[in-house]
Amino acid sequence: MAGLAGRSAIVTGAGNGIGRAITERLLHEGMNVVGVDVEREALDRLETELGSVHAGRLTTVQADISRREDVDRAVRSCVEQHRRLDLFVANAGIADAEPCLRISEESWRRIIDVNLTGTFFCVQAAARVMVPQRHGAIVVTSSTNAWFVESNMWHYNASKGGIDALVRSAALDLGQYGIRVNSVQPSMVRTRASFVTDDPQFAPKYLERVPLGRFARPEEIASIVAFLASEESSYITGQAIVADGGLTLGIYLPLPAEPLPGSARAAQRHDISH
Ligand SMILES: NC(=O)c1ccc[n+]([C@@H]2O[C@H](COP(=O)([O-])OP(=O)(O)OC[C@H]3O[C@@H](n4cnc5c(N)ncnc54)[C@H](O)[C@@H]3O)[C@@H](O)[C@H]2O)c1
Repeated sequence: MAGLAGRSAIVTGAGNGIGRAITERLLHEGMNVVGVDVEREALDRLETELGSVHAGRLTTVQADISRREDVDRAVRSCVEQHRRLDLFVANAGIADAEPCLRISEESWRRIIDVNLTGTFFCVQAAARVMVPQRHGAIVVTSSTNAWFVESNMWHYNASKGGIDALVRSAALDLGQYGIRVNSVQPSMVRTRASFVTDDPQFAPKYLERVPLGRFARPEEIASIVAFLASEESSYITGQAIVADGGLTLGIYLPLPAEPLPGSARAAQRHDISH
């Protein structure tokens, strides 16, 4: 994709799932990538499996995005290595589903701390480097849960709703510096974090409501991130691209037994009977 090769990126949550697919895609596009994750073993795996293929273009930083100093350290590492930061992909996130009346303050705070406050730290730290550069793209992994909510996930849904407002706010304020801020909103993606995709009972029921009839693959989300990062989307900012296989388009109905009153078909029936 245009404008990516030779540029530098940070990807959070790079060790697994969607973040790993994004990292792989950006390396394939010729970018230098700093992969950030809280799990050291996941980063070691990433380096072993991708580092050798893309010699010298992948480095990793173990960091918890809910800690501002960790995020700043990751950004410093990218700038020290590559002298600039062209793309920040704020992808890391956690979820949980638990009986809504029993969601504890601790549980609420952890999800908000990582997903919303952590994403704020990422977007702001990236912007602090990008503003003087007068150039940059920020892409956030949000979710359809920002507005098409799922049961017993008050904390997660609220965190993604907040991310949406953050993305729009940052896009509004940073556009004047040539910085674009967008998000991708997947519904259900096959990763370890989704407890639905491999559930033998519930997965088929869920898929009955998905026009494309399947769950997303992480690579399909990575394609959207690459597009939003590239010059191909140079006039898009503050937007969310929904990747849900059609899940949130509407609801299937049975066909009515009879034409509905007032319709042309009902009138035709009436004519025939006289
Ligand atoms: N899987 C889905 O169905 C789905 C749907 C919509 C949105 N999302 C979003 O996509 C993003 C990635 O999710 P995934 O499904 O790939 O999950 P995943 O668990 O497979 O990967 C998430 C990665 O983020 C890392 N991480 C978690 N907390 C972190 C922290 N505090 N600091 C740094 N790294 C941290 C984890 O170690 C892990 O490697 C999340 O923001 C999630 O909310 C996922």
